[in-house]
Amino acid sequence: MNDIYTPEVYISEEEIARRVLSLATSITKDYANSELVVICVLKGAFIFCSDLIKKIQLPLQLEFLAVSSYGDSQVSSGRVRLEMDLTCSIEGKHVLLVEDIVDSGLTVNYLKTLLLARHPASLKLATLLYKPSNLKYDVQIDYLAFEIEDKFVIGYGLDYAGRYRELPFIGILNAGH
Ligand code: IMP
Repeated sequence: MNDIYTPEVYISEEEIARRVLSLATSITKDYANSELVVICVLKGAFIFCSDLIKKIQLPLQLEFLAVSSYGDSQVSSGRVRLEMDLTCSIEGKHVLLVEDIVDSGLTVNYLKTLLLARHPASLKLATLLYKPSNLKYDVQIDYLAFEIEDKFVIGYGLDYAGRYRELPFIGILNAGH
């Protein structure tokens, strides 16, 4: 196989699984006795969200939202577009938004404003990754798996130009790829 397909491992499957379990345990404790709506932000959060909900020991409802902001670039276009909306009302419900990565914070900021306008009972954010070096918006993260350096990462749901999402680990593309 050409080495374009074998990016460097940045965070291993085992490390991810440990952190996912730890976040799910906290979420289970924090939401005991409440009904939870988990919103998975497509496409990047689909693997993280899937692993997370399998470890949350509460009845929950799963919803999806799709947004796009990057096109085929490694740099955000600066605009967020809602590509797919929820299929149910979240009014009066406890909502957990599940994202892949908070980079500038633009996407999460946009989504929180959108969802808060629908009057949920509460709204919290779980994100797999957070790159503090690039943050431009005030974003509160309630459940964070990993804070990372300013590197473009792929795998475990995250893509570069639509590729690499299927990798079981979080990786970095080598220069030139
Ligand atoms: P933000 O709006 O700048 O916070 O960027 C959030 C979105 O950009 C994420 O949901 C990802 O889809 C994408 N993104 C940001 N950084 C990376 C990265 O390092 N790899 C892959 N996608 C990224």
